Amino acid sequence: MRTLIKNGTVVTASDSYRAAVLIEDEKIIALESNPGADADEIIDASGKYIFPGAIDVHTHLDMPFCGTITADDFTTGTIAAAAGGTTCIIDYALQTPGETLQAALDVWHQRAEGKCAVDYSFHVAVTDLNDAVMAEIPALIKKGYPSFKVFMAHKGVFQIDDATLLKVLKQSGEAGGLVLVHAENGDVIDVLVKEMVAAGRTEPLYHALCHPPQAEEEAVNRFITMAEISGAPAYIVHLSDAGALGRVADARLQGLPVYAETCPQYLFLNIDRYSEPDFGGAKYVMSPPLREAGNEEYLWSGLASGNLQVVATDHCSFNFKGQKELGRHDFTKIPSGAPGLETRVQLLYAGGVNEGRISIHKFVDLVSTAPAKLFGLYPQKGSVTVGSDADLVIFDPEAAFTISQATQYQNVDHNPYEGFTGKGVPEKIFSRGRLIFDSGKYVGQVGHGRFQPRKPFTGL
Ligand code: URP
Ligand code: ZN
Ligand code: ZN
Repeated sequence: MRTLIKNGTVVTASDSYRAAVLIEDEKIIALESNPGADADEIIDASGKYIFPGAIDVHTHLDMPFCGTITADDFTTGTIAAAAGGTTCIIDYALQTPGETLQAALDVWHQRAEGKCAVDYSFHVAVTDLNDAVMAEIPALIKKGYPSFKVFMAHKGVFQIDDATLLKVLKQSGEAGGLVLVHAENGDVIDVLVKEMVAAGRTEPLYHALCHPPQAEEEAVNRFITMAEISGAPAYIVHLSDAGALGRVADARLQGLPVYAETCPQYLFLNIDRYSEPDFGGAKYVMSPPLREAGNEEYLWSGLASGNLQVVATDHCSFNFKGQKELGRHDFTKIPSGAPGLETRVQLLYAGGVNEGRISIHKFVDLVSTAPAKLFGLYPQKGSVTVGSDADLVIFDPEAAFTISQATQYQNVDHNPYEGFTGKGVPEKIFSRGRLIFDSGKYVGQVGHGRFQPRKPFTGL
């Protein structure tokens, strides 16, 4: 099967040019300036951009957490991803203490297999380190899992200590892996939470006040220090705050291989959201929390300057009814996380490119090319190149959008960006050569998404 996409403008992380993209089966086989008509299907992309499919390297689908399970599973989550122009996700397989990393992967593979609309891969979260788990790290890198997550917060659930952090960094770094960290000081947060609850302060806002920006900055700094000692590359997930960003910028100035992602919630929302009436602030309970108004612009500057290399979502959806409500009388019982898989690309385009904060090439880099490079998928993904997977987004820069829960594919009863408007809509989405989304309609097949083993870390 051959498909020719003609009259569009190909936009990559470095260039824009007019070319027809010829797809055969799953791959891009030619980029032509004077296309012939030798194709089974011809698509006219006049006035449209052709981007490499976006990659979201931070999702939590079908995940048990905070006494409940995320509202999106691998089917609803990956259809929502596709709706928003994301053609590959990397989710987290979380080790159960006492079990192996492979056992976690087996569980997550079972959750995803045959259920995905787009391609997927897994990071492995280490929560309980012992000699056998240490030995698994190099073996898993060879098997296509080159990224390991550790949590410096979520005390009593996922949090590891500094000794574990250092050991994982050394072991992973020596074998070609990348360590990802949730950087907040979980011990500090634990003390503040207990004080707050004892004082009867139980509304959603107090979740944010128990997660001060200094607790994030301190953890980022400690993680960077350990990475430097171990000689390993380091990646900070969902960085939310200007202070923490400063630590990353300092490290990069010293030439350390330190990388960081931020997420749309920290670019578009702020702490005022916790004061929404009728317990509405619970929708924004996430860790790290939303920060003070004004912090967003520092993160935008971090994206533009290159100190932040990736925008991912940390998509972790819980319904307001029945799930967020679990914490109506105690913020510590509110499941922590928010949806965003479907809206990342258009929010970043509208808020970033249209508003002049980042270039269109930086935009492509942040949502697709840099994630592909950092996580061992490039140039198979993250690129519009002959030989790459035909994961493509035909994007209409003039189409207007209004974000609404009523029209979303995310399987959750609210949307943090309800009512946001802008211009720029992913119109047609191809996953390995198959058209899976067309003008807002899912036209793919669940189960088409395939597991993607990844290459060891080589940098950006
Ligand atoms: O609150 C959040 N971020 N929930 C998802 C789990 C995590 O810490 O990334
Ligand atoms: Zn986290
Ligand atoms: Zn997360």
